[in-house]
Amino acid sequence: MKLKSLLFALSAAALITGSAFAQTPIVIKFSHVVASDTPKGHGAERFKELAEKATKGRVKIDLYPNSQLYKDKEEIEALQLGAVQMLAPSMAKFGPLGVKEFEVFDLPYIFPNRQSLYKVTEGQVGKDLLKKLEPKGIIGLAFWDNGFKVMSANKPLHVPADFKGLKMRIQSSKVLDAQMRALGANPQVMAFSEVYQALQTGVVDGTENPPSNVYTQKMNEVQSHITMSNHGYLGYAVIVNKKFWEGLPADIRTALEGAMKEATKYANDIAQKENDNAMEAIKKTGKTKVYELTAAEQAEWHKALLPVQKEMEGRIGKDLIDSINKAVK
Ligand code: LMR
Repeated sequence: MKLKSLLFALSAAALITGSAFAQTPIVIKFSHVVASDTPKGHGAERFKELAEKATKGRVKIDLYPNSQLYKDKEEIEALQLGAVQMLAPSMAKFGPLGVKEFEVFDLPYIFPNRQSLYKVTEGQVGKDLLKKLEPKGIIGLAFWDNGFKVMSANKPLHVPADFKGLKMRIQSSKVLDAQMRALGANPQVMAFSEVYQALQTGVVDGTENPPSNVYTQKMNEVQSHITMSNHGYLGYAVIVNKKFWEGLPADIRTALEGAMKEATKYANDIAQKENDNAMEAIKKTGKTKVYELTAAEQAEWHKALLPVQKEMEGRIGKDLIDSINKAVK
């Protein structure tokens, strides 16, 4: 009798684990370096919701915000190794990977406004740029928006001369290096997760970012002055490990593509508002002086920064810069 009940228990267990095994979800680890309460953070959360729903739970998206899993330098390598499956790095961070063309998004004043940016990211130029990732074992799924950058420091930044000798944190982009040098500052590449402490301790004097990043990383608490320069743009490419993505069942991939399309629209629709709200919150603290440039000062900034486009033709490609300037007109 004992043997019989043991056999019965084992077969029942096999059935349960067997069926449970069939339901084991495909896990997508989605790592990023910003706070959840940002355009990218909310975009990732919306993608998780839509993707798990569209695949009826056959896919599980594990989010790792705020550099919890990987910091700037490590995340793209982790993706290439398959340690994570999805990222959404700033376009300023693809130079070290060898895809320098993405730094075109960093060029000062290359996009007069958000609508002109969308002509690029939603057009052929954007598609062609994402294709350049494939030889690196990466597939670009979408462009997510953040916004135009402000400059911050512990002194007023009204004219380019105010930047002289300032140590300014930048992302790992040669265009941003050239931008800061054109202002007379001393650029310092640093991981996003280290910026607050570097500003607090004076390792760097100032930085640039859209307001949503400034506020959610509390950079405004250690910066006495912000200038609403909108001198450059910061946005993201949502990318996946190519081998992983192409190895998915076709129906799952199609469902995920649909979820990504909807999450992209959502992320782009909220970006401007999130940055406006962040700016309002910064002003409300009363701790940081927020400065709007005069027309004359704007002209001085343009004069100092526009030559960076020419200077960077050799690195990014004159044709690409010309095609963007043409597309945004
Ligand atoms: C930065 O490093 O300043 C940004 O790229 C962070 C981000 O992902 O928005």
